[in-house]
Amino acid sequence: MSYKAEEIERQLRIIHACEKGATGVYYGHRALAKVFFPRIIPDLDEMHAHESEHFEIFGALINSRGSRKATLPIMWCAGGIVYGLFIALFGVNSIWVSTATIEKIVSTELNLAAKFFKENDNVIYSAVQKIKLDEEHHHEIASSRAIFTGILPNLIQISSTKLSYLAKYLAARV
Ligand SMILES: [Fe+2]
Ligand SMILES: [Fe+2]
Repeated sequence: MSYKAEEIERQLRIIHACEKGATGVYYGHRALAKVFFPRIIPDLDEMHAHESEHFEIFGALINSRGSRKATLPIMWCAGGIVYGLFIALFGVNSIWVSTATIEKIVSTELNLAAKFFKENDNVIYSAVQKIKLDEEHHHEIASSRAIFTGILPNLIQISSTKLSYLAKYLAARV
């Protein structure tokens, strides 16, 4: 396989697995929010629906190119659910701080991916551009609701950043 084909496969695999992880995170947040913080459910529902769409779009792109998916997408979802539930235990602000942090990373990473795909695959490039708008919208919603100052928000920003990059690292390798 050429370097270009390998890199396309790698990038698709990372985005696809991370979108599945994102569906899990929102699922976990929603499960607790339904009971304890129902007022944030409409926002979470909308974002969760977007992540499911993104997962489907990248799944279709992978299939159309005969590329390999990350091993066991269900594991990505499960990891996301555990993380999403855990963060929600710390309250609404923790959900927003985590969401704002993760969505910012996702937008930055999709910008980098878009640069690569612009030169290498127009179809994937347009999909990434479209999805990037959703992720930026998620970041805007979450950062407008989050309060970032304080020990807990700081810890959440650190752990959500580390876990996001861990998810990326693993998706590139499994
Ligand atoms: Fe997404
Ligand atoms: Fe998102």
